[in-house]
Amino acid sequence: LHSVQSTNYHQLADAILAEIRAGKLRPGDKLPPQREFAYSRGIAVSTAQRVYAELQRRGMVSGEVGRGTFVRLAVPAGRLTTSLAEPTSLRIDLDLNFPTVPEQEALLSSSIAELMRRDEQWRPAFAPASARGTRALRNTTATFLSSAPGRWSLPADRLLFAGNGKQAIAAALAATVRRGELLGVEALTYPFIKTIAQQLGIRLVPLPLDDEGIVPAALVETHEDVGLSAIYLQPALHNPLGVTMSSARSAEIAEILRTQGILAIEDTTYAFLDPNGASLQWLAPEDVIRIDSLSKRLAPGLTLGFIVAPGRRVEDISRALHSGAWVPPAFAQTVCSRWMADGTAAKIADAKRIDAAARQRLAHERLGRFGLTGNGHAYHSWLPLPPSWRADMFVAAAARHNIALTPASAFAVVAGHAPNAVRLALSAPPLEVLAEALEKLASILDGGCDAPPPVE
Ligand SMILES: Cc1ncc(COP(=O)(O)O)c(C=O)c1O
Repeated sequence: LHSVQSTNYHQLADAILAEIRAGKLRPGDKLPPQREFAYSRGIAVSTAQRVYAELQRRGMVSGEVGRGTFVRLAVPAGRLTTSLAEPTSLRIDLDLNFPTVPEQEALLSSSIAELMRRDEQWRPAFAPASARGTRALRNTTATFLSSAPGRWSLPADRLLFAGNGKQAIAAALAATVRRGELLGVEALTYPFIKTIAQQLGIRLVPLPLDDEGIVPAALVETHEDVGLSAIYLQPALHNPLGVTMSSARSAEIAEILRTQGILAIEDTTYAFLDPNGASLQWLAPEDVIRIDSLSKRLAPGLTLGFIVAPGRRVEDISRALHSGAWVPPAFAQTVCSRWMADGTAAKIADAKRIDAAARQRLAHERLGRFGLTGNGHAYHSWLPLPPSWRADMFVAAAARHNIALTPASAFAVVAGHAPNAVRLALSAPPLEVLAEALEKLASILDGGCDAPPPVE
C-alpha cells in the first residue's frame, strides 16, 4: 500500500507540474484546498497533503496555513523567449538606454591615440586574456569602482572581468545557481535575467517590491518557503523602476543575507549616477557578488563587465567565465584600463550624471502631473498609466508618433502580472527631440492628438 501511495503522490505532483508547464495553471493561481483536491481526484486527504508538500519542496508552489497554496514558478526552463536586444526602427528611441554625451567620442579617441604611442603598454592588447586581468588592471579597476574616500575600498584580488555586464551576470549565475534551482528576483527586473535564466535552466521566483525595492519580510518568507539558491537585485537606480534603497533598507537586506546565508548577485550598473547609491557589498562582502560594467558610463561598443566576488567564490566564477567564453579580449582590457587610469572614464561619467539629471527634470516637467516616478538621477522613468489606457495600447499610440517605449510586461517576471505602466529610457535622443517626444506623450495622455479611443 505504501508504495502504491508513494507512486500516486509523485504522479499527481508530476501531473500538476505538467499543467504549470503547459500554462494551464499560471503563476499566482490558487490551488484548491487540499480536501477539495483529494475529493476531486478520489484520493485520501493525507495523499493530497503529500502532493502539495512535494510541489512545495520542488519550489513550484508556495503555501501558508490559512492563505492557501499558490503556483509560484515563474519561468519554466524551456523554449527561449526574446528579450529587449534589437534597437528599435522607430525614430525616437525611449526604449533602450545607451547614454552618450557629446564630448565622449573625442575623449575616448584621444586617450586611445595616446596609448598607441606607448609600445610597452599597447603590445599586451594583442595577447591572450585571462578573467583575472593583469595586476595593473585589477588595481586600476579597484580604485575606479571604490566609493568616495573613507568608505569601503574594493579589494583588487576579488575582481574578475567579463566582456560586458550581461556576460558578468551570466558567469555569476552559471557559477552559483545550478540547473533547476531557484533564483529570487525583483518582481519587475532587467529583462536579460529572464532569458539567461531560461538558457541556464534556472527557475525564477518573483520577490515582492515596495517603493524602496525588495520587501525584507517577503525575502525571508520566500526563502523559508522554497529555498533560494541566490537572489539577483539592483539596489540603486533599479531598472526599470528607478528606485534606490535607503540606507536603512539596504542594511536590513544585508542583515538578512548574512543571517540566512542567502547569496545576492547585486547589479550596480546604473548606481554610478546616484550619489546615494549604496552597494550591498559594502555591508555584506562575504554574501554578495557585485556586478558592474562600463557600457553605460562609457560606450557599449568597447567595454568591460566587472565582478567583485567573495574570496571563496573567485575561483568558481573565474572558471565559469573561461568555460562560458565570457572573458573579455585583451584589447578591451588594455583600452578600458587606460580610460579608467587616465581620468577619461571619470570625466565622462561625471558628464553623464549632469546629463541624466537634466533629462529627469525635463521628464518631470512634461509628465510629472501624470504620476511619473523615478529617482532624479536615473536615465529612465516609470510612467504608471491611467486605467483608461492599457500599456500595450499606449506603446502602440506612441509608435504611431515614431516614439519607442517599453511596456511593463517586458520587465515582469510573472507573465500576465505586469502593472499598467511603461518605462521611458531618456538617454538616447538629443535633448530637444526628447522634450518634443515627452510633450507628445503628454498630449496622447490628455487624449489629444490622434490617439485611439481609450479602452472601455
Ligand atoms: C540593470 C542592467 N544591468 C546590466 C546591463 C548590461 O550591461 P552591458 O551593456 O554592459 O551588458 C544593463 C543594460 O541595459 C542593465 O540595464
